[in-house]
Amino acid sequence: MAYLELNNVSKSFGGASVLKDVNLAVEQGEFVAIVGFSGAGKTTLISMIAGLLKPTSGSLKLNGREITEPGPDRGIVFQNYSLLPWLTVFENILLAAEAVNPNWSPDKLKEHVEKYIAMVNLTPARNKKPSELSGGMRQRVSVARALAMNPQILLLDEPLSALDALTRATLQDEISRIWSEDKKTVVLITNDPDEGIYLADRIIPLTAGPNATLGPSFKVGIPRPRDRKSINHNEHFKQLRRDIVEFMLGSKSERHTAITKKMILPDIEPEDLNIPRTMTAWRKTPIRKREQKEESVEVKP
Ligand SMILES: Nc1ncnc2c1ncn2[C@@H]1O[C@H](COP(=O)(O)OP(=O)(O)O)[C@@H](O)[C@H]1O
Ligand SMILES: [Mg+2]
Repeated sequence: MAYLELNNVSKSFGGASVLKDVNLAVEQGEFVAIVGFSGAGKTTLISMIAGLLKPTSGSLKLNGREITEPGPDRGIVFQNYSLLPWLTVFENILLAAEAVNPNWSPDKLKEHVEKYIAMVNLTPARNKKPSELSGGMRQRVSVARALAMNPQILLLDEPLSALDALTRATLQDEISRIWSEDKKTVVLITNDPDEGIYLADRIIPLTAGPNATLGPSFKVGIPRPRDRKSINHNEHFKQLRRDIVEFMLGSKSERHTAITKKMILPDIEPEDLNIPRTMTAWRKTPIRKREQKEESVEVKP
C-alpha cells in the first residue's frame, strides 16, 4: 500500500462537482507535483489531503489511516503566506514548533527554530515581522514553519506562484535542497509544468474542471541534482514539457460542451387561392412540412 492513497475521491460544493474520481498513490520519500489550471480544484484537493475539507465520496488514507482531520504529520504551505502579522519570524516558527513539541525545553525549542530559520537563509531577518519582509521572505518563513513541525509529508499549495521569477527560482532551489537533505514526502501543487519537472520525481496533471480528475503520471527521469541552466537543453525535459502541456490543453478542449439545438426551418407550400372560399374543405391549406434539422453548437468554457 502506498504512503498516501486517494481512492475515487470526489468533491462537490452544493450541486457543483469540482473533483471527480481522483485516484493517487504517493510513496514515502517521493516528490510529486500536481499541475493544473487555475480554478480546476487544486486547493480543494490539497485541503482534503490536509484534512481541512471532507470528500463528498471516496477515501483518503495516509500511512494506512483514513484522513479525517488536520494533523502534525502533514505540514502545509499555502500561496498566501498565512503568517501571524504581530509575531516575528522567530516567533511565528516557534509557535508552530511548540504546538507539536509541548514537552521540549525552551533551549531545545530555540535551537530547533534557529536551525530551520538558517535552513531558509533568514537568520538576519529573524526578528522582523511579516510586514517588514518581501513576498519571497514571507514564503520562506512559511516553508520553515511547516518544516519545523517535522511533518511526515509536506503539502505545498502553489507556494511560489505569487513571486517574481528570480525569487521563485531561488526558492525552488531551496525547496530542492531541503528535500534532498530531509527526504520528506512532498506533494507540490503548481501551475507551472517547468517548476514541476525541475523539482519532482513525477508530474501528474489535473484536468480542467468541472469534474476535474488526475491524468496519467509523467515520470521525470532527469538525475539529481538538477542543473537549472542545462535542464532547458535536455531532450527529455523538452519532451516531457511538450507531453504535459499537450495533455493539459487536450483536457481543456474536451471540456467544451456540445449543445444540440433543434432547428425548425420554414418550408411552407402556398395555399391555392384559385379554389373558391366556399369550398374550404377542398381547398389546400398551407402545409408546413416542419423539416427538422439538428445543429451542434460548441460552447467554450
Ligand atoms: N468552499 C467552497 N464553496 C464553494 N465553491 C468552492 C469552495 N472552494 C472552492 N470552490 C470552487 O471549486 C473550484 C475549484 O477551486 P480551487 O480548488 O480553489 O481551485 P484551484 O486551487 O485549482 O485554483 C472553483 O470553481 C471554486 O469556486
Ligand atoms: Mg488554489
